[in-house]
Amino acid sequence: MLSMDEIIIKLKACMKESRFKHSLGVMETSVILARLYGADVKKAEIAGLIHDCARDIPVQTQLKMAENFGILLDDIERLEPALIHGPLGAAIARKDYGIEDEEILNAVKLHTTGNENMTLLEKIIFLSDYIEPGRCFPGVEDLRVKAFKDLDEAMICAYDSTIRYVTEKGCFLHPRTVWARNSILLHKGREEKT
Ligand SMILES: [Fe+2]
Ligand SMILES: [Fe+2]
Repeated sequence: MLSMDEIIIKLKACMKESRFKHSLGVMETSVILARLYGADVKKAEIAGLIHDCARDIPVQTQLKMAENFGILLDDIERLEPALIHGPLGAAIARKDYGIEDEEILNAVKLHTTGNENMTLLEKIIFLSDYIEPGRCFPGVEDLRVKAFKDLDEAMICAYDSTIRYVTEKGCFLHPRTVWARNSILLHKGREEKT
């Protein structure tokens, strides 16, 4: 695996300045949440930093690269290409950055849609992407407060916000996002009954 300094240099060279700043913000927030909730801080730092490594690659190239990596894209990922950089980013993180840790790679892979039964690290990266200091959208302050109080509650709010945004824009909603939201609600329901 490349050193953190090497990762930073490589990443900076392949993304817009604003995306690089965002990546540093996600890294910083991931580390804080990992400390708070007892996740692996080093893994959170690496995953947060690298999560958007494929984001600024032109869409046609992303599609080609995904095919070359043997990534099977579903219909919704093809129709909403902004979703591809999750799975593609994980493949690039492995090949070009030498990251082998499956937990880190899965957190990168799932940060665009979420999924059922996410691990603590996956949730932390997903939420950090949403609430890093550079993010500015109505409700982000509430979401930040929630993220530091109750991770699952914040995840539900983030999914709700994604679902609202996607439907208002008339875009396709990836079913994994719905499964992800239901999965957290189910777990919470079970916890509350016990
Ligand atoms: Fe992303
Ligand atoms: Fe991001």
